[in-house]
Amino acid sequence: MDTVVSGIRSTGNLHLGNYFGAIKNFLRMQKENNCYFFIADYHALTTHPKPADLHGNIKQVLAEYLACGIDPDAATVFIQSDVPEVSELYLLLNMNAYVGELERTASFKEKIRKQPDNINAALLTYPVLMAADIIIHKANKVPVGKDQEQHLEMTRKFARRFNMMYEVNYFPEPDAYNFGQQLVKIPGLDGSGKMGKSEGNGIFLSDTPQEIKKKVMRAVTDTGPTTPGQELSEPVKNLFTIMNVVSDQDTVKFFADKYASCEIRYGDMKKQLAEDIIKFTEPIRIRINDILSDNKYLSKVVAEGAEKARASASKTVREVREIIGYRPF
Ligand code: TRP
Repeated sequence: MDTVVSGIRSTGNLHLGNYFGAIKNFLRMQKENNCYFFIADYHALTTHPKPADLHGNIKQVLAEYLACGIDPDAATVFIQSDVPEVSELYLLLNMNAYVGELERTASFKEKIRKQPDNINAALLTYPVLMAADIIIHKANKVPVGKDQEQHLEMTRKFARRFNMMYEVNYFPEPDAYNFGQQLVKIPGLDGSGKMGKSEGNGIFLSDTPQEIKKKVMRAVTDTGPTTPGQELSEPVKNLFTIMNVVSDQDTVKFFADKYASCEIRYGDMKKQLAEDIIKFTEPIRIRINDILSDNKYLSKVVAEGAEKARASASKTVREVREIIGYRPF
């Protein structure tokens, strides 16, 4: 049995890309492994959310996770900031993380470009906190998308470096959880790139049917195929990719055939796509709202999750302190 850790920042509602790119696989993983799923609300501070918004954001993502089927009885579901041990391990790991390597991290360089007015030190050490999240539970598997691969590589490096420095074989070097064929990258509706929180191209699990219809009908397409068998443009390919995960295979085939014979009407395709997305998200949206209104349930979930996560985390921190050389008087 593997120990798996995965975190998601509480910086926006979950979208179809989160679901089909990750969460759907978590539902299977949680049955077969020792999983830790948490809301990365320390990481969320790097973008300076307002105090008035922070709690609501965390609660929303938690409710959405649970509504998708993440099961707190099967996995350890917790809030990062409920486990202060992670901040201690983060501090200790920072001693062996080098500014040069942190400055070379792709995500940091991207942040410098994207938010030049807020290049805080926690952005620089973001990979160290992420490493602490992972190795504090001695995870050996981390489900990561392409954009997190480098962070996982750094986690391995920090784990290895700790082991070498103190001549121990303490932290395992975690591998990427391999989804094999099941890893789908969900594109946005704006023609190119993947669905993202900040790109404004996403369909959220909490969107109402009306919102979904509006977004899908506005999705970018092209002027239509003119020769039979013509290759698909990226925006149209993207619509098919989404259709592939939410619609029946017969439906996908119907529109693929229409495309191949140049008879496709994108309006019809979008109408069908919107309908199928709604069929998929509507039960989840209803569950999100039910869970959000059940504060007793939510507080029980986070209390139990924190207790389980802290049991594992405090053991690691205790042992790490000992390895480093702290001794009781
Ligand atoms: N950095 C991840 C992201 O932006 C979130 C994250 C934080 C994470 N800690 C983690 C993911 C630990 C996996 C494991 O998506």
